[in-house]
This record gives sequence, structure tokens and C-alpha cells, in this order.
Amino acid sequence: MYSAQIEAAKEKFGKLLEEQLNRVEEMKAQGDFINYKALDKIIIGVCGGDGIGPAITSQAQRVLEYLLEDEVKQGKVEFRVIDGLTIERRAAENAAIPVEVLKELKECHVILKGPTTTPRKGDPWPNVESANVAMRKELDLFANVRPVRIPEQGIDWTFYRENTEGAYAVGSKGVHVTEDLGVDFTVVTSQGTERIIRAAFEYAKANGKTRVTAVTKANIIKTTDGKFLDMFKEIAREYPDITADDWYIDIMTAKLVDEKRRKDFQVLVLPNLYGDILTDEAAEFQGGVGTAGSANIGKRYAMFEAIHGSAPRMVEEGRDIYADPCSVIRAGAMLLSHIGYTTEADKLYKALDICTVTEKKLVMTGRDTGATGEEFANYIMDTTRSL
Ligand code: IPM
Ligand code: MG
Repeated sequence: MYSAQIEAAKEKFGKLLEEQLNRVEEMKAQGDFINYKALDKIIIGVCGGDGIGPAITSQAQRVLEYLLEDEVKQGKVEFRVIDGLTIERRAAENAAIPVEVLKELKECHVILKGPTTTPRKGDPWPNVESANVAMRKELDLFANVRPVRIPEQGIDWTFYRENTEGAYAVGSKGVHVTEDLGVDFTVVTSQGTERIIRAAFEYAKANGKTRVTAVTKANIIKTTDGKFLDMFKEIAREYPDITADDWYIDIMTAKLVDEKRRKDFQVLVLPNLYGDILTDEAAEFQGGVGTAGSANIGKRYAMFEAIHGSAPRMVEEGRDIYADPCSVIRAGAMLLSHIGYTTEADKLYKALDICTVTEKKLVMTGRDTGATGEEFANYIMDTTRSL
């Protein structure tokens, strides 16, 4: 029974395996991390995306250009605006990232990206893959670094979410074997696992962190999560000064709510889907996903983004000038620190704290009852001047 369907499914599975084995070879051939200091010029791509994206990223760009004014004048840094990563263009080309846009992205070193719309069932758009996910894969941005800090509660977490494998690697390539049977695949590789776990430990070591925690469901998902956990234990042995422990994802979601225990976590490393879920939970304690920035780091490229949506309704109602650029400006601060401008990055982090927590002279309401994104960016720049 069903032998034709099983053969068809096997053929699709075979293709997936070939693709993934090619990816393994590419990872094996990869060199070390790019050294920004050795470059004559760092090219920063600014990719607005959809909805409120262009309005808020252009404000973040103004702030970064202001902080890097001398570098831009000396030709050490160049900003390039990359248009066209819009749902309309992606739908017209039926591509997750339009060809021309991808080419322009690949000419940059680092990218500041606004939100992009991911089509959902029932939307007028064809079912193109998420632009975020595609960019992470195309540019091999394997480490999704998401910090969550709530100093008054003693919370200082840094999540290292694996960003190219797990349930996301072939998430849009599952197989409907028959009308009744659907199968998705989750992928793990030695190379992909080693690099994210190593990145988490290296970050811990460089930043005086004393604990790295792995989060899996290796008791049930034995092959892929099992490999992730084995690799974690193996690499942990190279860092004897750092406490390494591991938790299952279910109890970890509970522990993040446990006010007595949660302060103790420092660096957490986890497969893609668990990282996706746990970082939304974590960001919620800090004030919601809209307050978080996210760094997507690979060896050759890095991309920094806000993790909120594109809010198309704000644009339809002409309110995009009132959209809050804070999260993408925070992503900009992560970008500055990543390319080595740590003094400028620290200034920007401090200004964000002053402007959104301690002083808060402007209120953003998303409409004309509050400040515009431009006014907020001006407020941030004025504040950095006094630091
Ligand atoms: C995130 C988002 C994305 C993801 C979506 C928009 C594809 O939820 O960055 O966490 O699932 O990774
Ligand atoms: Mg998410």
C-alpha cells in the first residue's frame, strides 16, 4: 500500500539530505571570523523592510551616522540603504529575498534590518519563506544573540540561539506523504552545533560570566537534541572555570518565572526553536519583544534587527512617523559594539536607558498624541552629547 507515495517522499527526503550534506561541507571549508579592524572600510547596509521598517530604520541610521560622523568623513565607514526587501517585491519575484537585494546585502559587512512581513495562511501573498529566516540561512548567520537585562531584578541573561538548523533548517520543506500523513524534519550537524556552543562559551569567557546553560529536550528528541547536549558537554570540558549545566526546555520555561532561581542563569545556549520561544518569554519580563534587539552573527556577515513586527496598519493610517524606533536603535548599538566601536555603543546604550527609563522626556504612543520617531532620535542624539 502507498508504495508510490512512499517512493515520492523518499525522493524528497533524499534531496533534503543532499542539501544538508552540502551545507556540512560548506561549514567545514569555512574560515575564521572576519576581522573588522583589518578592513579599509566597513560597509553598513540599512535594509528597511516592510511596514514601519523604513521609518524606524532611517531614524536608527541617523543616530549611527551621528555617532560615527568622523569615521564616515574619513571613509572608514559607509552606510548603504538597501531598498526592496518588501513583501510586494518578494511576492512579485516569488522569492524570500529578491535576487538584487541579496546581491546588495552580500556587498556589505554588517546589516541593520527593519521588520519584514511573513505571509500567513489567508494573506493575499504567496507563501514565500520568511525573509528573516532566509537571510539567516543565506548569510549563514548562525548565532542569534539576544540579551535580556532587568538590573533592578538582578536579571542579566544572554541567549545564544542556534539560528540556521534545528526545526528551521528545512521548515518549509516538510513532506505531505499522503493526505493523512505529514512529516517535518529537524536537522543537527556537528559543525553547526559546535560553532554555536563554542560562541556561547567564548562570550562567557570574554565577559566574565561564570555559567553557561544548555537547554534541550534530549530526553525525548534523542538524536538531534541528544547530539546538541553531547557536544555541549564535550566543549564544556575545555572551559573548566565556567559552570556548565543543562535543563530541559519545559522546566526551563517554568524556571524563568521563578524569581528566586532565574537570577542565577547567565548565558544560555539552545537549538533554534527553543531559542525562538524562550527569548520571547524572556523579553516579556523586560517589557515585551518590542524592547529587545537581536544580533545575528556569522563568520563573514552579521545582521542586527528589532524583533517586533512590521505593523502595516500604522502605515495604512499614516502613523508610521510615530512608530517607536527604540528597538532598532538598540539593534544599532549591538552593531556598533560588534564592529568594535564599543565606546560609541556604550554611549548609545546609556542614552537609551536615560531616554526610555530614567529621564523619559518624550513619550511614544504610536500616534499624534506622542512624539515622532524623528523627535525620539533627536532626543537620543542630544543625550549622547552630554555623556
Ligand atoms: C524571531 C521571529 C522569527 C523567527 C520569525 C519572524 C520568522 O519570531 O526572530 O524570533 O521565528 O525566528
Ligand atoms: Mg521569535
